[in-house]
Amino acid sequence: MVSQHQAQGAGVDYAGRRARLRASIFTGKQSPDAILITNTANLFYLTGFTGSFGALLLTPDTERFLTGGIYATQAQQEVSDIPQIINPPLREFNETLAETAQALSVRTLGVESSMSVAGLMGLRKAMRKVGVRLQPVGTPVEKLRRVKDAGEIARLRRAAALADATFQHIQRLFQPEVAEWDIAMEIDFYLRRQGAYPAFDTIVVSGERSALPHGKPTERRLQRGDFVTVDFGARLDGYCSDLTRTVVIGKASAEHHKIYNAVLEALERCVEAIKPGVHGKHIDALARQVLAKHGLDGYFGHSLGHSLGISVHDGAGLSFRDTQPLEAGMVLTVEPGVYVPGFGGVRIEQDVLVTDTGCELLTQAPTALMECEW
Ligand code: GLY
Ligand code: MN
Ligand code: MN
Repeated sequence: MVSQHQAQGAGVDYAGRRARLRASIFTGKQSPDAILITNTANLFYLTGFTGSFGALLLTPDTERFLTGGIYATQAQQEVSDIPQIINPPLREFNETLAETAQALSVRTLGVESSMSVAGLMGLRKAMRKVGVRLQPVGTPVEKLRRVKDAGEIARLRRAAALADATFQHIQRLFQPEVAEWDIAMEIDFYLRRQGAYPAFDTIVVSGERSALPHGKPTERRLQRGDFVTVDFGARLDGYCSDLTRTVVIGKASAEHHKIYNAVLEALERCVEAIKPGVHGKHIDALARQVLAKHGLDGYFGHSLGHSLGISVHDGAGLSFRDTQPLEAGMVLTVEPGVYVPGFGGVRIEQDVLVTDTGCELLTQAPTALMECEW
């Protein structure tokens, strides 16, 4: 078992990441005097802080980490390389932020676009009082997070391997009379037992319900002739995996085979086509072409894939919106699906690492159709 606390942060070059962020922000006359990071995934990426509330203030040559008393000790342990300011009790955090910005002679402060409207308004009010103007800077940290470094890839590999082990562990539950809910509980318990957290709410859907791409598990009991789809991930050491498999309880019918084989063909063609330089939207289009050949493209109502990292939906991926070329070091899901209302659905999801020449599968659980008879 990996201890979440000891494992996180070991050997990560957080200062190097902050230096790359500075190099991307503080360029040219239009750049702000400082940038404020409050998004928790971005804080974790830049500092190793695992709390749910904090702020990093970066100028070209100074930095401050701010949080509340609830995280005072934790921040000392996790962010020991940055001067810290702990917000005193009974004081608005935004006022402490404004005072800190003023002390560092900041006049324009860059803010991330992930900030909420309420968060932005409260911050603007406090900053106005000390003459600091806010300047939107978009998503500079997410851009850095797009390509993973060697340490991140090692963590993502371990998270993927744990998803595989979890799937192996729950296979014995694919039998008539087992409830969707019990399979979901077993998945979550196994992940927790191995020192991980579920990366998102575990999906287990069966029979007609397997046509719900993000259905919640219920008390429904599996029956012969069901498709059963499980979709879950491990958040291990701060990094996520995401695995989907669909099985049949008992013998698969011709209809089961037709749908399953079409989805598997789309998956395999897309995995073969992923390599640096190819645009994500073209891989998404390829999946739709393969399904169209089987008359099933009208049943695929979501994007083909997304990045994996600190977040399970970690940004750029394989959708019609992804117009930038793929790069080596990106970690993506590939998850075609076909969902036929009133019958059922199939999704098969792999996690892949884009390499210099193509891609490598990080998830290894079998993809051949499993007909579960015990
Ligand atoms: N269930 C989350 C996903 O597969 O993207
Ligand atoms: Mn998934
Ligand atoms: Mn996914």
